[in-house]
Amino acid sequence: MTEYLSRSDDALAPILAYSTDILADRAEGLWIYDQEGNRYADFACGTAVTNLGHNHPNVIAAARAQMDRVVHAGCVFRYESIIRLAEKLRTITPPGIEKFGFANSGAEAVEAAVKLARHVTGRQGVITMRGAFHGRTMGSVAYTTSNARYRDGYHPILGSVFVTPFPRPYRWGKSADESTQLALDELGYKFKHEVTPKNIAAFLIEPMQGEGGYYPSPPTFLEALRELADQHGIMLIFDEVQSGFGRTAEWFSSDHYTVDPDIIAMGKAIANGLPLSSYGASADVLDRWPVGAHGTTFGGNPVSCAAAGAVIDTMQTLLPHARELSAHAFERLHKLQVTHDTIGEVRGLGLMIGIELVKDLTSREPDADAMKFVSRYALEDELIVISCGPDGNVIRFIPPLITTIEELDRAIDTIDAALTEYEVH
Ligand SMILES: Cc1ncc(COP(=O)(O)O)c(C=O)c1O
Repeated sequence: MTEYLSRSDDALAPILAYSTDILADRAEGLWIYDQEGNRYADFACGTAVTNLGHNHPNVIAAARAQMDRVVHAGCVFRYESIIRLAEKLRTITPPGIEKFGFANSGAEAVEAAVKLARHVTGRQGVITMRGAFHGRTMGSVAYTTSNARYRDGYHPILGSVFVTPFPRPYRWGKSADESTQLALDELGYKFKHEVTPKNIAAFLIEPMQGEGGYYPSPPTFLEALRELADQHGIMLIFDEVQSGFGRTAEWFSSDHYTVDPDIIAMGKAIANGLPLSSYGASADVLDRWPVGAHGTTFGGNPVSCAAAGAVIDTMQTLLPHARELSAHAFERLHKLQVTHDTIGEVRGLGLMIGIELVKDLTSREPDADAMKFVSRYALEDELIVISCGPDGNVIRFIPPLITTIEELDRAIDTIDAALTEYEVH
């Protein structure tokens, strides 16, 4: 075994599931370099974080400049980078989102969003979607059902959390409309048999479900949730932790829909790798959350906020390129689907693309072995791709926005070659 792997096993908690055994020496743009000089195109983006590519010079420069001024504030004093970031976020988040709070991780942002909804509505119930991923803390794991094993060993989990089906047209073998109707019928039964709407503080949903298999919501499902939320005084929370910041070639996945949230949670790519997350809502909602009802020591760190400001400025100029990349990727991947019987479906928004691998096109049985084969094959061809979905059979195709068309083509060629080889065996 390579020396660093045994040292790693010896010293680190074994809890993290690393996607590769690479020991990174440095990273730049699309590429990660190991100590032996090998390089790998990172189509995992540190699990949807480095959307501008690794070590983007604008982000590094902003963080460096901030480090020379002030690094930590811990709620003792105010600083310019956090105020400026909130002002910028207001210009890119959905209509009605006006004020922002900050935290360190996606799970914390989700927890803050739910606490806010509970506090201002005076209700405790939360309705979440089956297959969702909202984080691993004891609160957020109660909202996470992308895989039951994330809860193993932690029961009982938080109460008054009600899980309702999220429409999955491909897996259910139904049209988007039929799947939406089925999901809404189930939600109706929930209100009839388990909990009345007046107990519900929030619907919590990823408009584009991530870890659960890269499923975009059918538009009619989000529209129906918005209507129910308005009818019953329920807050609609969009978790855009993975789908935000250019991942769908728009600022947020909700930009692909006509529905706006009451509360938004953001994280991951917000600072392109520095730890930061955020939650936002209208002034009316946030002003009803009293001082001291929530707090943080490190959240909204000055350096991370400065980096996030540079992310927004830089990403603005890259979104048109991201849209071109997306159109090209979908065109090529749909062609690939015709030539490979292992590809059941290609779906997604922008550059958040899921390629679902199946054993056969009729039964749609998930093929996790195909996914493992593709990952291994790709790594030998200098490409990192990771999976998503409860069955581990969906290629999570998430290039950074700085990828060139040629680099994108090369990655798709690699996946094509991997599937060809898998299919002959
Ligand atoms: C949609 C979504 N919400 C929340 C989280 C949790 O984020 P973190 O791991 O930063 O706590 C994730 C992480 O993958 C996510 O994809």
